[in-house]
Amino acid sequence: MKIVRTIADASGLPTCDGTVGLVPTMGAFHEGHLALFRAARAENDVVVASLFVNPAQFGANEDLAAYPRDEERDAAVAAEAGVDVLFAPGADELYPPGFQTWVEVEELGSRLEGEHRPGHFRGVATICLKLFNIVRPDRAYFGQKDAQQVAVVKRMVRDLDLDLGIRVVPTVRDADGLALSSRNAYLSPKERERALALPRALATKDLAQARARLNGLDVDYVEVADFEPSVLAAAVRVGKTRLIDNVILDKEPA
Ligand code: PAJ
Repeated sequence: MKIVRTIADASGLPTCDGTVGLVPTMGAFHEGHLALFRAARAENDVVVASLFVNPAQFGANEDLAAYPRDEERDAAVAAEAGVDVLFAPGADELYPPGFQTWVEVEELGSRLEGEHRPGHFRGVATICLKLFNIVRPDRAYFGQKDAQQVAVVKRMVRDLDLDLGIRVVPTVRDADGLALSSRNAYLSPKERERALALPRALATKDLAQARARLNGLDVDYVEVADFEPSVLAAAVRVGKTRLIDNVILDKEPA
């Protein structure tokens, strides 16, 4: 696996050799990221993963500085999963002095997560568009875990006539049901036990029941979101850690 750090090197990939699959990430790889790498590996000739903790999608009071970083381990994990190229630029490479152009997915990006994390999806949409333009993939891979991120990216692809396919990979969970997340590392054993209320509430696939089960926790929102497909989505805070999760709602009640 090749590690590249500049836009020039990430752009000079052998795209003429066949299809390119891109997996955008912020590192701290777990089985969720691995599922994306595998999906990309199965469908493309060249697999590119980006590793960039994107400052633009973190709010002033969020965990940018504390976000887990271990590039050496991530590189080994990505290589093992069949990634061909790891694009790991510094912040100045993607946001040089004078940077001032942003992508705003207005309505989809301002509710739910967007309401609690103002500017978050502006940062996500902008970095994704930049990565798409730099790497020029045929397909890009995203996790259902971040259902609103998928909706925002798909809307941007349609609205800006981008020529790539967006592939969505099912949420990977631990045996106890908690969706894998780099932020789970922040949880103490006791907090992790409390966090299990989140997947258990969503597993009811029922808004009223989920609300009732999350009663007493620090809930940012629990809502049915009419993404394609519709999901029951929630965000809770457990101690200092903010967790999000969602389940796809079946079209017809069984
Ligand atoms: P990050 O949190 O590193 O996630 C990278 C990708 O892995 C995202 O598409 C996310 O949905 C997916 N993912 C995370 N946990 C998952 C799980 N348990 N199961 C399945 N997929 C999972 O999401 C981001 O980074 C950033 O916002 C990014 C898109 C890279 C833009 O900066």
